Amino acid sequence: MITLRSQAELVKLEEASRIVLETLEAVEKAVAPGVTTADLDAIAEAEIRRQGARPAFIGYRGYPKTLCTSVNDEVVHGIPGRRALREGDVVGIDCGAVFAGYFGDAARTVPVGRIAPETAELLDVTRKALDAGIAAARPGARVSDIGAAVEAVALVHGYGVVRDFVGHGVGTALHEEPQVPNYGPGGRGSLLKAGMVIAIEPMFNLGRAEVSVDADGWTVRTRDRSTSAHFEYTIALEPQGAVILGTGALSGLRPAAVGA
Ligand code: MF3
Ligand code: CO
Repeated sequence: MITLRSQAELVKLEEASRIVLETLEAVEKAVAPGVTTADLDAIAEAEIRRQGARPAFIGYRGYPKTLCTSVNDEVVHGIPGRRALREGDVVGIDCGAVFAGYFGDAARTVPVGRIAPETAELLDVTRKALDAGIAAARPGARVSDIGAAVEAVALVHGYGVVRDFVGHGVGTALHEEPQVPNYGPGGRGSLLKAGMVIAIEPMFNLGRAEVSVDADGWTVRTRDRSTSAHFEYTIALEPQGAVILGTGALSGLRPAAVGA
């Protein structure tokens, strides 16, 4: 069942996502050679709690930390720890927060100092694929239209599109229906409706699509050890199309147009 959210619920979902996006900003600013992924996690946890929210990932199926920090060939769910970032690395930062019972979930992959041009392009293209997915998410479309739009962007560049992990509904739980794969064909799955809230999260690899999970039970890594990128926003479907939550774009938040 896919829950349609009321305006009052959307306001709380907006707030949860705003806290997540501000936390990602703070973490991104701290990314530099020599900084450990545990340092980033500490910044994130402090920021979320300062804003009166709670980290959403801590305790989720036993997950121990606030962030997932996924370096280079790590795709998602890397656990923050003593690893120090090095010039030329990329680090995926995935963050979730719960505010007044409502969840926000977003991620981005950021460079550590100067990175190889092909890696910079991977980041750029994966971010653009997220935009394409968001543009495809509108009432009247179907869930797989999102994945079809995301996948089309990867195809042009020959990137591997990770199929083993998917986007998802977001609401009073971190993961709700529907599942949102990053591949087509389009025209399949549930009809999208105004009031739905979903996280779209493309994961593209420089090499092949296949991934494996480390012995820690969490860290997802490309099988061919190629570099991977991950970007995620939680979006709300409005009658006119999708808005990215946490950015102030939600219609009800804007003062009504006067006069004209
Ligand atoms: N942001 C991730 C997702 O969208 C959640 C990380 S899993 C956790 O699925 F266990 F760390 F919470
Ligand atoms: Co997610």
